[in-house]
Amino acid sequence: MNPLNHVAIIMDGNGRWGLKNKKSRNEGHKEGLKTVEQIIKETIKHKIKYLTLYAFSTENWKRPKNEIDYLFKLLENFLINKITDLNKQNIKLKIIGEKKFSKKLNNLINISEKKTYKNSGLQINLALNYGSKKEILSALKKLIKKNQTISEQNLEKYLDTSGIPEPDILIRT
Ligand code: FPP
Repeated sequence: MNPLNHVAIIMDGNGRWGLKNKKSRNEGHKEGLKTVEQIIKETIKHKIKYLTLYAFSTENWKRPKNEIDYLFKLLENFLINKITDLNKQNIKLKIIGEKKFSKKLNNLINISEKKTYKNSGLQINLALNYGSKKEILSALKKLIKKNQTISEQNLEKYLDTSGIPEPDILIRT
């Protein structure tokens, strides 16, 4: 087993790379996704069990509409074109973050998660509309609703990341 069990990556710099090299932030995102595919290949090769990709934070909604639309189109196409392949490779896809997107994307996400749920190889945690404070708050609300004691152990049960070990390394690209 690889001593690195969980690698987490904050995706960053796509826009700047795109502007510098292709005169377009969106082109940078397109290239960034190719890099993600390379990272997935390397993660499998090195037998790493968990890969978390912080792709779109709650803060990212402040970006121009054309960039947000482009990013979600990339994501839709990724799920449509790659999920069968990811499934064949025994990869489990889990979305962390509040799943409040278009009906089409929500459906695609649900289908992709269900299809790969039982897979036991690499688990990819894709953080979308994710914010750590939001995650804690939402878990806390669930705890209170169920009238359970506020404790670390109980809180953990309701986190999106419940059951996922802490990352061994956090990389900012
Ligand atoms: C970071 O670069 C990239 C993002 C915030 C978005 C990444 C998301 C996608 C490519 C959508 C699909 C994702 C996957 C993994 C299927 P940045 O825009 O923050 O770059 P900057 O720091 O130069 O502005």
